[in-house]
Amino acid sequence: MDTKIFSRVDKYISNLLAPEDKILTDIIKSLDTEGLPQHSVSSNQGKFLQVMMIACNAKRVLELGTLGGYSTIWLARALPHNGKVITIEADKHHGTVAQKNINNAGLSPKVDLRVGKALDILPQIIAESDEPFDMIFIDADKPPYVEYFDYALQLSRPGTIIICDNVIREGKVLDNNSKDEKVQGVQRLNKMLSENKRVTATILHSMGAKEYDGIAIAVVNRVKE
Ligand SMILES: C[S@@+](CC[C@H](N)C(=O)[O-])C[C@H]1O[C@@H](n2cnc3c(N)ncnc32)[C@H](O)[C@@H]1O
Repeated sequence: MDTKIFSRVDKYISNLLAPEDKILTDIIKSLDTEGLPQHSVSSNQGKFLQVMMIACNAKRVLELGTLGGYSTIWLARALPHNGKVITIEADKHHGTVAQKNINNAGLSPKVDLRVGKALDILPQIIAESDEPFDMIFIDADKPPYVEYFDYALQLSRPGTIIICDNVIREGKVLDNNSKDEKVQGVQRLNKMLSENKRVTATILHSMGAKEYDGIAIAVVNRVKE
């Protein structure tokens, strides 16, 4: 099969259902001008996050891995007027670029950007949170994905949707002897999801404009009576 079909179909879906406005295209440009990697989700994935938010009536959203704020903007735009996204970014320069982009989008009242390593910030969020999150998007470094997921569960309620990006890694997850720490991190996560009784989970894999990869989606189960 001609693999160009994947990017053409990705574009077709994006034009139909997830068109980018100038704010979003400017963020993608800012990554190049500011020396950040082009590792944002695609516009179709941004729209997917919004669909998931509406499905769980999300008012409080947590994101791990902000980069330049592209996915953060998709998330913040699907919030109700009193909603909030807390987003965590380890890299100070990424954080500065993201904050500028969030301000340009007029979304700073809805976005609380925390700069620091997720494993340091998450215990602080647990200590200060009196309400659970409705959706959690994990898109930071891959080796501690299981630890991030454990924190996500502590910050959840039944019905919270937890989404983890890049869990197929061009099929490298099939290699049980992989020495790649990113692959090992998502292999641990995927196995944990298969055994964890607190969630119902699956993985959607896709070939998009950027790469062949997959996204894990877990819903926190109702408490059994
Ligand atoms: C794939 S990018 C995030 C892309 C972003 N979610 C988007 O779609 O626009 C991953 C980001 O996670 C950040 N990161 C890496 N390690 C981290 C950590 N320990 N804690 C928080 N963020 C981290 C990286 O600096 C990078 O900006």
